[in-house]
Amino acid sequence: MSPARRSPRRLALLGATGSIGRQVCDLVERNPERFRLHALIAGHDQAALDAAGRRHPGAHRLLAHPAVAEAVQDPDVDLVIVAAMGAAALAPTLAALEAGKDVAIATKEVLVMAGELVRERMRRHGTRLLPIDSEHSAIWQCLWGEQRESIGRLILTGSGGPFLRRPVDSLAAATVEEALAHPRWKMGPKITIDSATMMNKGLEIIEAHFLFDVEYDRIQVLVHPQSVVHSMVEFRDGSVKAQLGIPDMHLPIAVALSYPERIEAVVAPPDLAAIGRLDFEALDPGRFPAVALARDAGRRGGTATAVLNAANEEAVALFLEGRIGFNRVVGLVEAALSSMPGFGGHALEEVLSADAWARRHVRELASADRRASAGKLPA
Ligand SMILES: NC(=O)c1ccc[n+]([C@@H]2O[C@H](COP(=O)([O-])OP(=O)(O)OC[C@H]3O[C@@H](n4cnc5c(N)ncnc54)[C@H](OP(=O)(O)O)[C@@H]3O)[C@@H](O)[C@H]2O)c1
Repeated sequence: MSPARRSPRRLALLGATGSIGRQVCDLVERNPERFRLHALIAGHDQAALDAAGRRHPGAHRLLAHPAVAEAVQDPDVDLVIVAAMGAAALAPTLAALEAGKDVAIATKEVLVMAGELVRERMRRHGTRLLPIDSEHSAIWQCLWGEQRESIGRLILTGSGGPFLRRPVDSLAAATVEEALAHPRWKMGPKITIDSATMMNKGLEIIEAHFLFDVEYDRIQVLVHPQSVVHSMVEFRDGSVKAQLGIPDMHLPIAVALSYPERIEAVVAPPDLAAIGRLDFEALDPGRFPAVALARDAGRRGGTATAVLNAANEEAVALFLEGRIGFNRVVGLVEAALSSMPGFGGHALEEVLSADAWARRHVRELASADRRASAGKLPA
């Protein structure tokens, strides 16, 4: 059957006003025969939500409140898209999976925080996660038609962000503006700071572990400044498959939304002759300690990754508020991981309490820093 004769896939979109959410809305507008927005859900920005709603008049509009679970579970929804910022996306993702919905997921924090729980819900309800993150979309595409046993390693590429070449001893003085100036991708502020610390790549290692069920030791990171090779899979026979494309999130979003079909002309293909060269280099662990920190948290398992995620969300928020320096972002995450009380299990209550503990702990450490630097620390 041709896609034009099939009824449009009905979408519930969490994070409708954000960077990913707006690109989902573009794709829906460009492909009305394929997609229809059934619900637009955002966090706080009513004006932006209303603006999106005017372009999709049939869609229900909701700001974050208890009815979000109902909206993603609506029988009229075929696919839920999760692109809300951070840990707030966990409950709606679980609600969608419990209602038997497939979820196209951009929000890596959900898997970092509660990957085991999400996988358990998928198994129990026979649902799937379709990756939107460009690296995971690339790996997913490289794996189509392959057998799990054939996988050797997953290779996640990363541009290295704005601080790839900056002298390491000047990073402590990096400003918010400098950290937000990503050389290749235009994204929301939290993921842009994660790209500057390369915690983003650390979170992606954990995301890849849960999406593709590959051990941490077999997930590598390679710096690739041009952001054209979005990631690769190395197979046991020595073959390597890569997925290439210009750095534009419309493409991985379209792959997830239209799977298993492909949409015509989502973006222009990369002009390799004009690009000329593709460079790769090993990650410098001294410059980017966040990657090893995240991998270690993944290996520790239990609630260590929930602590990693929550501590990082809080530390990034503090940096964006101008209350801590750039190097302290990863420093606070490390401090939280090294003093967390226990690793706990995978139950929702344990994940939520680890998340709450880490947020509190990071705020307390940052306040202590400020008191110390103001010379008011009690002797
Ligand atoms: N941007 C990219 O290119 C990119 C690429 C790969 C992966 N991702 C991942 O995609 C996710 C979203 O990133 P982004 O860059 O699109 O972020 P963003 O531009 O900051 O947008 C965040 C969205 O989340 C919404 N939101 C916040 N709190 C919410 C809540 N409690 N309930 C429902 N919605 C809520 C915001 O709504 P309000 O504006 O109303 O607060 C906004 O629509 C992140 O996990 C990121 O890592 C993004």
